[in-house]
Amino acid sequence: MTARIIGTGSCLPEAIVTNDYLSTIMDTSDEWISSRTGIKERHLVKEETTASLSLEAGRRALAEAGVAPEELDMIIVGTLTGDYITPSTACEVQAGLGAVNAVAFDINAACAGFLFSLHTVNAYIQCGMCRTALLIGAETLSRIMDWGDRSTCVLFGDGAGAAVVQAQEGGLIAYDQGSDGEKGKYLACRNRTNNNPLVQTEKNYSYTQMDGQEVYKFAVTYVPNSIHKVLEKAGLQPEDIKYYLLHQANLRIIQAVAKRLKISLDRFPISLDHCGNVSAASVPILLDDVNRKGMLQKGDKIILSGFGGGLTWGTCLIEW
Ligand code: COA
Repeated sequence: MTARIIGTGSCLPEAIVTNDYLSTIMDTSDEWISSRTGIKERHLVKEETTASLSLEAGRRALAEAGVAPEELDMIIVGTLTGDYITPSTACEVQAGLGAVNAVAFDINAACAGFLFSLHTVNAYIQCGMCRTALLIGAETLSRIMDWGDRSTCVLFGDGAGAAVVQAQEGGLIAYDQGSDGEKGKYLACRNRTNNNPLVQTEKNYSYTQMDGQEVYKFAVTYVPNSIHKVLEKAGLQPEDIKYYLLHQANLRIIQAVAKRLKISLDRFPISLDHCGNVSAASVPILLDDVNRKGMLQKGDKIILSGFGGGLTWGTCLIEW
């Protein structure tokens, strides 16, 4: 038995912020942002929270799967922007759904968070500790952006995507994941500083900082390698895959990966144009997009790949 996805859902905040709008509040332009990233607009929260977006995405995934909240025995949320340090976003979702039989916890693997969640639940399923689970990738990244730093804030957005998985034959065929903590400094956001009586540092709630070129180099080398490893484990060729659903960080990264795999860009669906980079939520939002457009047929082989802060990466091959 492995984890098979049986329903998807997503939820984006109501407010849309275009590149043109950003160019009225900072020194940037639609031309700069779209030519370097492919991003045209992103959704940003006003009233919504990481938990409220997660809950709605989760409800939609459960409705599509035809699964009742009480049937869930696990809820995992991949996020680095939970509303609380504790309780976890997954516990908030559990309460909101009334999923009384589910154990709930978050995973922080940044943009690989949904993939790490899927691989984790797969391990639980394989050892018989879980049968039906709700996985969510959700972020309110706009809370941890320095809106005075045009080199980072224009890239990210808010939103949530979800998938219901069930223990079945087939499903997750092969996976690869890894971390390179030495490179963590290239994409970082410090937690609050310690203010205990022995330290008494200045209060500091710092914002996301990124060395864009280092992260770019990481993505265009590690991601194709990870995809090749997964294909090799499954005994398949790049052309056997119907769609490659990659983390939506930057169109140029996706183009570079497609080129290295020698696969047409048509097989790489895109949501970053209207969502920006939503970290752990990018892959499940894209999966829900593709699913709801009716682009997936039973038996299709799909690759999902997430990569980013940590630095971390995770790739898997699933059968629809
Ligand atoms: N608008 C206008 N100009 C901007 C800008 C903005 N939003 N942000 C930066 N610039 C300026 C810089 O100040 C710099 O100006 P200078 O040459 O006068 O110093 C110039 O644009 C070039 O900046 P640079 O950082 O060298 O641009 P780049 O070509 O490397 O592109 C990224 C920047 C972030 C788009 C690119 O590095 C990238 O895509 N990296 C991957 C990042 C990523 O995807 N991270 C998330 C992974 S999960």
